[in-house]
Amino acid sequence: MKIRQITPAIGAEISGVHLGEASRDPSLFAAIKAALLAHKVLFFRRQDITRAEHVALAGRFGKLEDHPVAGSDPEHPGLVRIYRSDNPHSYENNYHCDGLWRPNPAMGAVLRCIECPEIGGDTIWVNMVKAYEELSEDIRQKIVGLRARASIEHSFGAVMTAEARAKLAQEHPSVEHPVVRTHPETGEKILFVGAGFSTHFTNYSTPANVRHGIDKAPGASLLLNYLISRATIPEYQVRWSWQQGDVAVWDNRCTQHYALNDYWPAPRKMERAGIVGDIPY
Ligand code: SIN
Repeated sequence: MKIRQITPAIGAEISGVHLGEASRDPSLFAAIKAALLAHKVLFFRRQDITRAEHVALAGRFGKLEDHPVAGSDPEHPGLVRIYRSDNPHSYENNYHCDGLWRPNPAMGAVLRCIECPEIGGDTIWVNMVKAYEELSEDIRQKIVGLRARASIEHSFGAVMTAEARAKLAQEHPSVEHPVVRTHPETGEKILFVGAGFSTHFTNYSTPANVRHGIDKAPGASLLLNYLISRATIPEYQVRWSWQQGDVAVWDNRCTQHYALNDYWPAPRKMERAGIVGDIPY
């Protein structure tokens, strides 16, 4: 197995590995898991693997999750289809970590390219540990103990009818997470708000932050938007140009990603096995 680091901040390309083998071989899988903790997102070119091998590999990390809006492959529960062939609308072209709207957002994911446009359709990943570490000391002090709400309603729900949106919100009520979480395996601190799902701070209002009721919302939303904007800094990112069969494996606890929607009307088909995560602290 060869590891080629792609940027100083994040991402490595792994060669000399067949992921079908890795789905069966515990020591090969352990080497991949170690590389994932070190590099946060791993890329494997042109992997000729079956859907069963895809879900078996992801299943080595943990239980797989379904998605309430994007459907799964009927024969492979947990293998979510992200197919853009008949609809220009995209949910993935904003910075997000998958399932931030869940009480336990995904631990990670294994994404395989089934079909990609000749030009365009790249995906960007961001190192959110670096995004936290490079905040100024005064901002880091200001966000200690802060919590933020995340919801699926205002993202996936935005293009639904009011009735469908209300049903989605009822079935998946919004949740609250720490603004800075700790990685359960590496101990790293992570900036844990994102454009995709974070809506507002839930405990911003203190005598120090709010002197008059009216300054509560603007002060909080300026700070939240500032934190959200940190994911867009190129020095924290890696960008992958897909070829058919490529696989990306990412640690969703400490990264965000953004899939560019610049290829319509060319089709783009991806299949993602998302791995159930734990409750952030
Ligand atoms: C996702 O947002 O999980 C999918 C990323 C992609 O389609 O490249």
